[in-house]
Amino acid sequence: MKPIRKAVFPVAGLGTRFLPATKAVPKEMLPVVDKPLIQYAVDEAREAGIEQMIFVTGRGKSAIEDHFDIAYELQTTMGERGKDMDLLDGTRLGPGACVYVRQQEPLGLGHAIWCARDIVGDEPFAIFLPDEMMHGSPGCMKQMVDAYEKVGGNMISVLEIPREAVSSYGVVDPGTSDGNLTEVKGLVEKPAVEDAPSNLIVSGRYILQPEVMRVLETQEAGAGGEIQLTDAMAKMIGQQPFHAHIFDGERFDCGSKVGYLKANLALALERPELAKEVRAFAVDLLN
Ligand code: G1P
Repeated sequence: MKPIRKAVFPVAGLGTRFLPATKAVPKEMLPVVDKPLIQYAVDEAREAGIEQMIFVTGRGKSAIEDHFDIAYELQTTMGERGKDMDLLDGTRLGPGACVYVRQQEPLGLGHAIWCARDIVGDEPFAIFLPDEMMHGSPGCMKQMVDAYEKVGGNMISVLEIPREAVSSYGVVDPGTSDGNLTEVKGLVEKPAVEDAPSNLIVSGRYILQPEVMRVLETQEAGAGGEIQLTDAMAKMIGQQPFHAHIFDGERFDCGSKVGYLKANLALALERPELAKEVRAFAVDLLN
């Protein structure tokens, strides 16, 4: 079985849900406490042993490239002033550890992934949707890679949500379960509540076999008129093993304002240097 060495991060989205904050700043650069969302995802990938980060970007996203590059002026000035360089930990991806490709038109998540086909090549790979913040230790992808090493094939992370909210997500038709793993019998993108096969949704982490790129080549537009990754994955069910993995940890949907605020509060309360003051303020405010 080939190891998972590469990860694709689709980051070309316009982030209209967070305007005006995201007019000039990519939504992936919004911070949770003091670290941008994209870096949480990259850290999670590294923890899972992934070596190459492939960012599918678009116009106006160059802050992401700068974030993972060397910042000479900053480093020199910080050095001269004796500042703590640890603050920049994890922000530098060396040559070969990151690749950028452009998705020139917003044709959907499936199309964004397909834009990375030549770089992914002929090996299994991971996908991270950085909006979905998976918080826990070990991280979500590390848990998935450990499970993948036993069962192979394709794997998606899933979680249960209230049934009335499923229409915003990819939804799983579940088969038999064994511990954290459930067989995937079907997948449907953004179904109407009454048509949804379950309340188990695709939550933004994937391990896929390279054949999905061949399927995406001819994938037609689906929900919302976009080329959907979910539709391409659905076609691979039955051809290769396909499992859903339930993350042992916490998920914050940082694509929504409430989810983003929850993530900031929860992570601030975990930081020893911030927790006391933040907790006292929150209690005060609620009273
Ligand atoms: C995408 C996927 C969907 C998944 C969701 C998770 O949807 O297409 O299957 O459940 O991310 O956040 P989007 O949020 O891009 O509409």
